[in-house]
Amino acid sequence: MVVCLKVKKQDGEAAKNFLREKGWLDTERVLGKTELRYLILPITGTFDKHILLKKFPGSKFEEKNLPLVPVHSGDLKHLLKNILTEEQINELVRSYDVVGDIAILDIPPKLNKLAVSIAWAFKRSMQYINVVARKIGKVGSADDKYRLRNYEILTGEKRMETMHKEAGITMHVDLEKAYFSPRSSHERERVANLVKNGEQVLVMFAGIGPYALTIAQKKPQTQITAIEINPDAVRFMEENVRTNRLGFAINPILGDVIEILPKLNKKFDRIIMPFPEKNWNFLDLAIKNANKNCTVHFYAFVHEDKLKEAEEKIKKAAQKEGRKAEVLRVLKAGSYAPRTWRYVFDIKIK
Ligand SMILES: C[S@@+](CC[C@H](N)C(=O)[O-])C[C@H]1O[C@@H](n2cnc3c(N)ncnc32)[C@H](O)[C@@H]1O
Repeated sequence: MVVCLKVKKQDGEAAKNFLREKGWLDTERVLGKTELRYLILPITGTFDKHILLKKFPGSKFEEKNLPLVPVHSGDLKHLLKNILTEEQINELVRSYDVVGDIAILDIPPKLNKLAVSIAWAFKRSMQYINVVARKIGKVGSADDKYRLRNYEILTGEKRMETMHKEAGITMHVDLEKAYFSPRSSHERERVANLVKNGEQVLVMFAGIGPYALTIAQKKPQTQITAIEINPDAVRFMEENVRTNRLGFAINPILGDVIEILPKLNKKFDRIIMPFPEKNWNFLDLAIKNANKNCTVHFYAFVHEDKLKEAEEKIKKAAQKEGRKAEVLRVLKAGSYAPRTWRYVFDIKIK
């Protein structure tokens, strides 16, 4: 039995829209009607009885046995059709992420009123999802140094902590405490496939360890140094290294690359720099720690008209250190802004 608003048919559309905007319409149940005069609208959440009675005079609250809307997983677009236009649905479906059992939506402010209803549609159509949250602000808006943003949990359990599986590894993360993006999974696999067994690898901004873990899993005979400044991220990385039994290959280090690398006094065959916002500030440091013929995977947000300039900047940085850089390839590794992409420059340092 669910609580329903029994509303006069002529008020039906307005009441449905009002409940939807407030996040009070239970979109998991089919709507009912009486033979003559009333629509039966299932309601949920912390709805306000007085507001509803005032707004829709003559309506009543009754408990009814309304069946669940039949849903098959993958029926997301079908569920969202009740709430959004086709264009809005496509935008939303293109931009959401799944980390473990958390769906993370990018809901534009103009859809604020519908956010909870949208979240229900996601949760209902994805049986393995237990939390639906939305992004608040850009990456770095909650903590610039650790690259954190805030989230608003729209429905489900009140947590941003989860276990995420990717390419045969399992990672524990709390997205409010440490950066992680599932979007780079293909790029991580690409880089791991390039690694040759026996290489000394450096991951400069290692986060909870996704690059280091993917490489160690695929190429177990490598030695990987993974440096990260956020203590929470390092705690997760250490746990992830243990649970995936990759401790023989990965050495997680807590600290600032600027302080740690000179102390390590070690050169590497491959250096990964997954920090596109600030990588330019660290390129000289990477080159200083590069063995002869080291490959650097350098990520940066660059406008597509400025690629040649970026390549020149890389070559000049190498010259300044008395080295030579050859740009082996430049690939798009994610979108950022109109005509500006997250590019990866694979560079050979001679
Ligand atoms: C964009 S995130 C990438 C994290 C991880 N590599 C991944 O792909 O999920 C950048 C990371 O660099 C870390 N960071 C920022 N400045 C740093 C520094 N000077 N030394 C070491 N780590 C740093 C941040 O805490 C953050 O976790």
